[in-house]
Amino acid sequence: MTRDEQVSATREALLAAAERLFAERGVHAVGNRQISEAAGQGNNAAVSYHFGTKADLIRAIARKHAEQIERIRERMMADFADSTDLRDWVACLVRPLTEHLETLGSPTWYARFTAQVMADPALNAIMVDEAPTAAPVLQLFRDGLARPSAVEELLRYLNIVHNGRLRVATEDIEVAGQTVRAGEGLIMANEMGNRDPSAFPDNPDELDIRRDARRYVAFGFGVHQCMGQPLARMELQVVYGTLYRRIPTLKLATELDQVPFKVNGLVYGVHELPVTW
Ligand code: HEM
Repeated sequence: MTRDEQVSATREALLAAAERLFAERGVHAVGNRQISEAAGQGNNAAVSYHFGTKADLIRAIARKHAEQIERIRERMMADFADSTDLRDWVACLVRPLTEHLETLGSPTWYARFTAQVMADPALNAIMVDEAPTAAPVLQLFRDGLARPSAVEELLRYLNIVHNGRLRVATEDIEVAGQTVRAGEGLIMANEMGNRDPSAFPDNPDELDIRRDARRYVAFGFGVHQCMGQPLARMELQVVYGTLYRRIPTLKLATELDQVPFKVNGLVYGVHELPVTW
């Protein structure tokens, strides 16, 4: 066995042992030393050496399975590529997991592990965070479900957070033909990115709720992009959807130019919005 094969076999053994022990005894009740022992590792520090923290270990278990589930989903989506039947697409969302669990046989430690982790508020976030990372097809699928959406265009057009992201270059980089030296500061004006004609060729300064507005940066971009964006999107979709369904006659109770806008704050919006119906 080469060194790489040995490392990979040790990692697999640790993952399998952790998954089983977490499922059997509960994630919080199991320590790294017990996992190392159960995986036949003499070295008590094997878990932290190979994975890092307990959260990293949970993430690694989730990722291993998510990759296998993703392959099933890819296959199903290729089969349904032209389908207009919503049930086919819902099947693509749900069945990859159940098929995967079936292949694992019984007892399915992963099912018990997932049930536990998803029910624990602190650990649940790791799984939610991990799923789209390991499953790009699922992410595409979710994006597809969220479109076409007026909310996306509103976020693009209004941008909302108007103070600019501040970044410092850690090494020399070239952006649009301009060299930025290591240590130099940059202000990322998201609101300008959202009106960039190369990203939104059709009149970016106009609000058009039928536009494909996916490439906007209202939630920032990169490792620090907004962590609350799925919640923010969902809230906006539910609020607008429900509001106009429940009160279809809702309208402004004053002239638009009388609405006091917040023009000099960090976050764009209105001070008040008198309405009638
Ligand atoms: C329409 C609503 C929202 C907008 C437009 C928005 C926008 C942003 C922007 C522009 C950033 C900075 C991204 C960057 O530096 O690249 C950010 C960061 C963040 N947002 Fe939001 N946000 C919204 C709602 C929320 C909600 C509802 C939550 C929490 C429940 C939230 C939590 C966060 C957190 C924790 C960060 C910091 C992420 C980090 O630094 O790694 N946001 N948001």
